[in-house]
Amino acid sequence: MSAKVITPYGDYINQPNATNLDHIPGDYGWPLLGHTFSYIKDPMAWAQERYKKYGPLQRIATTGVRGVLALGPDLAQQVMLDTERNFSSKMGFIDRVQKFFEGSLIMEDFEHHKHQRRIVQGAFKNDALQHYTREINRIYDRALDEWEADAGKTIPFFMYIKDLLLVVAAEIFAGETSYKGDRVRFLNQAFLDAVAGLMYIVPWNIPGLAYHTGMKGKKNLQDFFTPMIAQKRAGDGKDMLSLFSREKDENGEFFTAKEVTDQAIFLMFAAHDTTTAAITHTIYFLARNPEVKEKLYREIDSVDLDGLLWEDQDKLPYMQMVFNEVQRIRPSVPSVPRRTIRECTMAGQRVPANTMVFTLPRFTHWMEEYWTEPSKFDPERFSPERAEHKKHAFQFHPFGGGAHKCIGMHFAQMEYRNFLFKFMKRYDFESRHKK
Ligand code: HEM
Repeated sequence: MSAKVITPYGDYINQPNATNLDHIPGDYGWPLLGHTFSYIKDPMAWAQERYKKYGPLQRIATTGVRGVLALGPDLAQQVMLDTERNFSSKMGFIDRVQKFFEGSLIMEDFEHHKHQRRIVQGAFKNDALQHYTREINRIYDRALDEWEADAGKTIPFFMYIKDLLLVVAAEIFAGETSYKGDRVRFLNQAFLDAVAGLMYIVPWNIPGLAYHTGMKGKKNLQDFFTPMIAQKRAGDGKDMLSLFSREKDENGEFFTAKEVTDQAIFLMFAAHDTTTAAITHTIYFLARNPEVKEKLYREIDSVDLDGLLWEDQDKLPYMQMVFNEVQRIRPSVPSVPRRTIRECTMAGQRVPANTMVFTLPRFTHWMEEYWTEPSKFDPERFSPERAEHKKHAFQFHPFGGGAHKCIGMHFAQMEYRNFLFKFMKRYDFESRHKK
């Protein structure tokens, strides 16, 4: 049995989820299954229909979990900014993420979260970002040289990007420079196993089941990172793990090897699939929207550089609009969960303590109240002339907001921009699927 921890906010981490939400509009869907299938089948159609029927706050259920669906920018703002400290990130993610990423930033709340965030903050300052940008250019040049052998062929682009960004993680996050060497292969496999584990159906640690693979991956990641911390602390490396290891707390003490390891493992997770999805979706939308692709080519051609350094990042305003539009229409993080730590009021409804709250950024990104023809891929909506995204502070929030706002936001966009810049300088592409 886990030790009982009482927080300054009460005993919220030991309480079961609230289940009596009958006074809130909505329904719980099918017995046991709740709304799981309708959500998986078409999350947007499901959310849009429910919004019309019940408004921004409504009771729902997924498999075995009851909670409220919080739709639209007002509720996103209330939940993410959380000025009254009503919402726990830890309890929102505890069901699955805790098993693989315990101790990580997303699994911490309030003061302790702020304390742990110090571990990673220094690694996202300007001088560090300048260094990563130079490194990323080197990594991309090497990869694109290798991709030359596949020019003219049909390639599974998603897998190419996934592999490339794993190399970025190994070299820039962990400082592992043995390209395609054993250590990098071990790290990448451990990471892929841990992520695969998250998709488990039953949490049984039995060989052959996803949960077992995930647990093995988690242990391998811990065994990989933990012994490196002391060595990184003593060195002068510029990779992220070195910077995390040398960070000190408010009392001038180093963080423990476990604390650093927990943050490093989660950081890889938070960075990888999100950026892979952003780049892959961009290639998909560009291939289907040749006029957007041509305009982006013209912008890239007008910049007479081989690669972008950190100080060149604002030279591609149209690419920024494309990035934003991809995140609007297919946000890399489509849903952000929390749990109330005390009773509070949302959209005029009384929401009990310990209620699961599901926000859906993608729904807000498609609301007709804020966006013209929301289902159309139209980067110009982010142009200074149209600025459709400026009607509400939380109508567009691909990187979240408040205390848990994405710490890798600038890194991610640099990684994205530099890739597209170099890739499109060298190659044209089309989809093998016709419209
Ligand atoms: C397009 C790429 C990315 C998107 C759309 C994205 C989006 C997000 C969002 C929405 C959150 C908030 C989640 C919540 O409040 O529950 C978040 C948190 C986080 N992201 Fe990102 N992310 C991206 C890339 C990255 C990268 C590249 C890194 C690291 C290099 C990173 C590191 C993190 C971390 C550590 C957190 C947790 C912060 C905290 O809890 O204090 N992300 N991200």
